[in-house]
Amino acid sequence: MKLTADANKFGPFAFMAAVLMTAAMVSAEEDVVTIRQADMKAMAAAAKTISGMFKASTTYKASEFKWAADTIRDRSGGVLSAHFASAADSRQSKAGPNILEERDRFDRIANDLRDYAVALDAAAQKNPGPMTASMRMKPGEAMGSGPFGTHVRNEDELSTMAAEHAFHLMLQTCTTCHTRFRME
Ligand code: HEC
Repeated sequence: MKLTADANKFGPFAFMAAVLMTAAMVSAEEDVVTIRQADMKAMAAAAKTISGMFKASTTYKASEFKWAADTIRDRSGGVLSAHFASAADSRQSKAGPNILEERDRFDRIANDLRDYAVALDAAAQKNPGPMTASMRMKPGEAMGSGPFGTHVRNEDELSTMAAEHAFHLMLQTCTTCHTRFRME
C-alpha cells in the first residue's frame, strides 16, 4: 500500500521529468539538423566564392580564397560525419536513411571533401599574389575524375594537381554525396 502511495506521489514528477527529457532530446536532434544545414549553406557560399575567382582570375585574393577553403575544411571530414551520427527522424531533414547503413562510404566522401579543401588552402598559401597559371587547369587537361571517381587516392596526386582541378573534383564530391545520401 505504501508503495502505491509513493508511486502516486512521485508519479507526476517522474512524468514531468520524462516529458522534459524527451523535449530536450527532440530539440537536440533539431539543433544538429539546423547546424548541419547551416554548415552546408556556408560551404555552398564558400564554393561560390572560389568559383567566382576561377571565372574572373583578376578577382583572386589569396586571403579570401584561403578563408573559403578553410570554411569547407572546417565543416567537412569528421565534423561533417559527426553531424550525421544518429538516425534523427527530423521532418526538416533531407538526410537519407542509408547514411547509417553505408557509414564507411559516407565518411570517406566527407574526408575526400576535406582533403580537397586542404589542398585549396595550400594553393592559396603558395600563391599569395595574383592567381598563377600553375593554379589553373592546363588546356585539354582531363577534367573528369577518372576510373576511381572523386576519391582521393594519395597526397602526392593531390599536391601536384592544379588547384582548379582539385576544385572541380571537390564540387563533384558534393554532388556524389548528395546523389547518394540526400533525399529530394
Ligand atoms: C558526405 C556527404 C556530403 C557532402 C560531401 C556534402 N554534402 Fe551537402 N548535404 C548532405 C546531406 C545528407 C544533406 C541533407 C542534410 C539535412 O537536410 O539534414 C546536405 C544538404 C546540403 C544543402 C542544403 C542545406 C539546407 O539548408 O537544407 C546544401 C546547400 C549543400 N548540402 C551543399 C553542399 C556543398 C556545396 C558541398 C560541397 C562543398 C556539400 N554539400 C557536400 C551531404 C553532403
